[in-house]
Amino acid sequence: MKFAVVGSGTMGHGIAEVLAIYGHQVKLIDISWDILNRAKQRMEESIRKFYEKGTVKEDPSVILSRIEMSTSYDVAKDIDFAIEAVPEILDLKRKVFQSLDEIAPKEAILATNTSSIPISEIAEFTSRKDKVIGMHFFNPPQIMKLVEVIPSKYTSEDTANKTVELARSLGKVPVKLRIEVPGFIGNRIFLRLMQEACREVESGEASIEEVDSCARNKIGLPMGIFELSDYVGLDIDVDLWENIVKRGTSDVPCKLFKEKVARKELGVKSGKGFYEYPGNKYLKVKLPATSKVDPARLLSLAVNEAAWLVENNIVKPSEVDDVMKYGYNFPKGLLEIADELGIDNILRNLEDIYNKGYSAYKPQDLLVKMVKEGKVGKKSGEGFYKYA
Ligand code: 3HC
Repeated sequence: MKFAVVGSGTMGHGIAEVLAIYGHQVKLIDISWDILNRAKQRMEESIRKFYEKGTVKEDPSVILSRIEMSTSYDVAKDIDFAIEAVPEILDLKRKVFQSLDEIAPKEAILATNTSSIPISEIAEFTSRKDKVIGMHFFNPPQIMKLVEVIPSKYTSEDTANKTVELARSLGKVPVKLRIEVPGFIGNRIFLRLMQEACREVESGEASIEEVDSCARNKIGLPMGIFELSDYVGLDIDVDLWENIVKRGTSDVPCKLFKEKVARKELGVKSGKGFYEYPGNKYLKVKLPATSKVDPARLLSLAVNEAAWLVENNIVKPSEVDDVMKYGYNFPKGLLEIADELGIDNILRNLEDIYNKGYSAYKPQDLLVKMVKEGKVGKKSGEGFYKYA
């Protein structure tokens, strides 16, 4: 198949690389040759790593030869599928989608890798709303297996099926939402993790390092919450936070993230965020081995969000878990972990924080009902899952 990838930053270059590894022709479009050449260098480095490990057998130069770079949309005139990965600015997305709509063949599917802008708003910029869809990869897209597939109210079933198939053919695990919600699944839950991490620090309950030590050493996550926020980019975190909240999701007061962005401390890519990254390269952060932070408290708001998604029939518990396992490399699904920690413990933490005046922590009916019925997780034989 022939693809266009628009935007060659962190996500765009990784997506183009994955497509080329799987044998596809790719036109990688960006606004300047400086940016494109940097993307080429990053793709070369990454493909070489895979080649040296043996996970990619083909000669890296052959893979790279399938990627044509351009600063013009003209190269998209014979594509079958486009994936947009430009910054989260609606006006920018409008320009990209109008250009693609004008140049790409009428039957081509136009996907967006947006992390939080509603797909229907993007589809409205085109004359092919039924062929516009969300195809949300996770960072680094070369490694993370998850792809969220988000049909808007306009997307045809054919477009959704083809996108799910494409994701599978790239070795990914697609999770398709039944209804589009702001932030989809992964970023709604990631937002809740950042909010609770921030609340614990700003209210003086714990330090940044203690929160992250709990995430990594007690829960077994690959990164702490602040460490992951740095890895994603604090500007991106703030964008997705604002995009989700301005579309109706409850907020938690937090200054830490915005203050960092105002100081241009954007995380790994700027060399400094909550932690320091010499040479703007990610290096596992050093954290204390122990932490007083309670995992049931740190995960409580995220589990409440997952309960909302399940209660509203947007995804099933197992799909929430797939998102966290394949998109964030959780060692187990979020709801599997909740069952182990005890739904009663999760609920107790939510009630405690809610009673301190944080309205976003109002427990979902589903959690209250589960506890009332004694379905408190593994210890009772049933929670989100049943146990023998
Ligand atoms: N290309 C090729 N290989 C790469 C690579 C890349 N771009 N990035 C990392 N690797 C390889 C490394 O070479 C290393 O290989 P090795 O084990 O053979 O030496 C391996 O991956 C592990 O990398 P590191 O040793 O550098 O570091 P870690 O062991 O900490 O793993 C990680 C890095 C895979 C990123 C891991 O920390 C992780 O899973 N973190 C969580 C990432 C996550 O949650 N992503 C989702 C973010 S949210 C998002 O993207 C949504 C958006 O909308 C905001």
